[in-house]
Amino acid sequence: MKLSFTVNGTEHTLDLDSRVTLLDALRDHLGLSGSKKGCDHGQCGACTVIAGGRRINACLSLAVMHDGDEITTVEGLAGPELSALQQAFIKHDGFQCGYCTPGQICSAVAMLREVSDGWPSHVSDSLTGPVRLSREELAERMSGNLCRCSCYPGINAAILETAEAE
Ligand code: FES
Ligand code: FES
Repeated sequence: MKLSFTVNGTEHTLDLDSRVTLLDALRDHLGLSGSKKGCDHGQCGACTVIAGGRRINACLSLAVMHDGDEITTVEGLAGPELSALQQAFIKHDGFQCGYCTPGQICSAVAMLREVSDGWPSHVSDSLTGPVRLSREELAERMSGNLCRCSCYPGINAAILETAEAE
């Protein structure tokens, strides 16, 4: 099936088997290997990308379901410099092996937007105002993103610092 979508601001047209997942389309057909395949069963969040402003598990979504969509992967979050959230992950040591990190960051960007704007209208980690999140709420909202290195203290600190920035 023919499919056209925009990934990180660039339009792509692909001719894919209808069974190809969005994750495999991104990694194997577009060479965007930032999104990781952990469980391939919707359980770990390593494959999280942002589709139409909403965070999704790309391993559970067929590519052909995203015809016309705007997709953002971790590769699309940084400009000339790393985004504020990416820098905060480094500052707070929010990773060890790094395998879960692209999914954690994509998920957190969309989550902060969900909290600050209600339903997200566009993707950015430049928040329009401070977002107040308790540690409990943060843990619940990020519960779909597992870290096998258990770097949660650093991950949470990075997200909370970004959330509280104006
Ligand atoms: S690889 Fe998609 S949720 Fe684990
Ligand atoms: S940093 Fe290794 S799985 Fe999270």
